[in-house]
Amino acid sequence: MSEQALTLEQLRFLAAAASAAPSLHNSQPWRFAPMPDSPGIRVYSDPERAVPLTDPDGRALHISVGAALFNLRVAGLRLGRDPEVRLLPDPAEPRLAATVRLVGPAPAAPPYGRDLFEAIRQRHSSRQPFANRDVPEAVLGELTTAALGEGAVLSALEEDAVRRVLALTADAERRTGADLARMAETRSWLRLDESAEDGIPAAALGPQDHDARVPVRDFTRRTPATTPSQRFEALPQLATLTTHGDRPADWLRAGQALQRVWLLATADGLRVSVLHQAVEWPDTRWGLRDPDDGIGHVQLVLRLGYGPPGPTTPRRPVDEILDLSGYRQPAVRGESSC
Ligand SMILES: Cc1cc2nc3c(=O)[nH]c(=O)nc-3n(C[C@H](O)[C@H](O)[C@H](O)COP(=O)(O)O)c2cc1C
Repeated sequence: MSEQALTLEQLRFLAAAASAAPSLHNSQPWRFAPMPDSPGIRVYSDPERAVPLTDPDGRALHISVGAALFNLRVAGLRLGRDPEVRLLPDPAEPRLAATVRLVGPAPAAPPYGRDLFEAIRQRHSSRQPFANRDVPEAVLGELTTAALGEGAVLSALEEDAVRRVLALTADAERRTGADLARMAETRSWLRLDESAEDGIPAAALGPQDHDARVPVRDFTRRTPATTPSQRFEALPQLATLTTHGDRPADWLRAGQALQRVWLLATADGLRVSVLHQAVEWPDTRWGLRDPDDGIGHVQLVLRLGYGPPGPTTPRRPVDEILDLSGYRQPAVRGESSC
């Protein structure tokens, strides 16, 4: 087992890969630091990057951190190490979302069925219309298995359920649009300046659905809309991601499942976007549960399909998210450490 400390370069590599994860409004609510006593990295949630009106419980914040944690695991494997994760290891420090010990060697066979590292930078939110083309059952089955591997249930919805979830999402979207404070909060994360390192750039926003069937989030509510509406797919392929419990550890699991599913989908040539509006209001979130076997808590609604990949959305520089204050350069082999 390699107990070799991580170099600065490796720490920066890990933080950059983690930070490529999706997050609510690209808020990037995470920070990283080396573990003080073994090779590995500490993952913190950053409440200063919270989106409090849209996400009062910190659910989306933890989901975003969980997604970053999954990227970190994939990047750790790329370094030839075997990631060992502990979620919320210290009850006295709830901001410490996880520790990831990176001791080698990585398993010979990729633990997620294939190496997902390249998909980290290929993955983007695609808010464009998708083609009227079914996602094959086999692909949906593979994604469902991936979510299960992270302790979450991905349910690919049939037509009736899709219509129910679309109606709930449209209802939530209307309410959000009428809530001036929430809309101001959402708009505060839009970035018209192309050099911005957080928030959502105008180029990443998509059109509204001309037929009002797919209620994609309207981030701007400008009238008249600056981007002409377009026809979306007639019946989108939606999926819900559900966890058994509804506490921070469950949200971190949901985030890891989200990212495992999204990276695998990306590797399969699928595009994904998040329809989160119905999760943001307690009653519509409740309504998202499958009425036939309504156990569990729906954490996310995903839209899957074939279409354009979506543009790159910028990230904060690694120096802003990686705390190296406690870092000590590993001693060169054979050199005295005192
Ligand atoms: C918890 C969560 C909720 C999100 N909600 C939405 C949403 O409602 N609508 C949307 O278009 N994108 C949503 N996103 C996607 C983010 O806006 C996106 O990940 C972020 O802007 C970074 O862009 P990227 O995914 O292309 O890297 C959500 C992402 C997460 C993790």
